[in-house]
Amino acid sequence: MTDPRPSFRTDRLSGEPIVAAHAAELAPVLADPEVHRFLNGEPETESELRDRFERLESGWSPDRTQRWWKWIVRRHDGTAIGFVEATIEPTMFYVGYVLGTEHHRQGYGREMTAAVIELVVDRFPVEYCLIEMDVDHVASIALAESLGARRVDTVTGEDGHREHVYRIDR
Ligand SMILES: CC(C)(COP(=O)(O)OP(=O)(O)OC[C@H]1O[C@@H](n2cnc3c(N)ncnc32)[C@H](O)[C@@H]1OP(=O)(O)O)[C@@H](O)C(=O)NCCC(=O)NCCS
Repeated sequence: MTDPRPSFRTDRLSGEPIVAAHAAELAPVLADPEVHRFLNGEPETESELRDRFERLESGWSPDRTQRWWKWIVRRHDGTAIGFVEATIEPTMFYVGYVLGTEHHRQGYGREMTAAVIELVVDRFPVEYCLIEMDVDHVASIALAESLGARRVDTVTGEDGHREHVYRIDR
């Protein structure tokens, strides 16, 4: 069956729909605990990543109410630098982004996230995009703002930690 998930390409990067086989490439990139400071949890093993990526190959959430699209992102020299993801509902979508530490602060986060926002907006009648991050996550806030997102809410999760919600309208 052909994979319905699209790829993308930018000046410096390419995004390929994630599959189980990408776990070996991404495990070392995501192994640094610093990458996970504001993510929930610790680095996953290669085999945990493989299981998770395999479940994403369908492109859908288990209840099929959301498209769960995730891309491995590589520089044009082939180096894997991280992933970007979109959770797509009928009228809106969320984006998320994770890069290996050595690839931060080079504009890659903005480049790959802008490409995914454009791709989703081109394909679906979504009205807006949300980005959520810990209130102390300076880098993620700066990235969202650099994409033109504006803060629309701050919420407290079940575990007590606070998150900002940023929004970009179509
Ligand atoms: C969040 C993350 C993806 C940012 O990616 P990045 O490639 O470093 O960001 P970019 O280089 O594209 O920078 C985008 C903007 O944010 C700013 N920025 C990035 N990191 C910053 C930091 N640590 N402090 C202040 N500003 C920062 C950049 O200066 C740039 O702003 P500008 O447009 O005004 O120049 C990256 O830090 C990361 O992967 N962190 C670990 C995983 C994670 O926490 N993901 C997000 C979960 S919500």
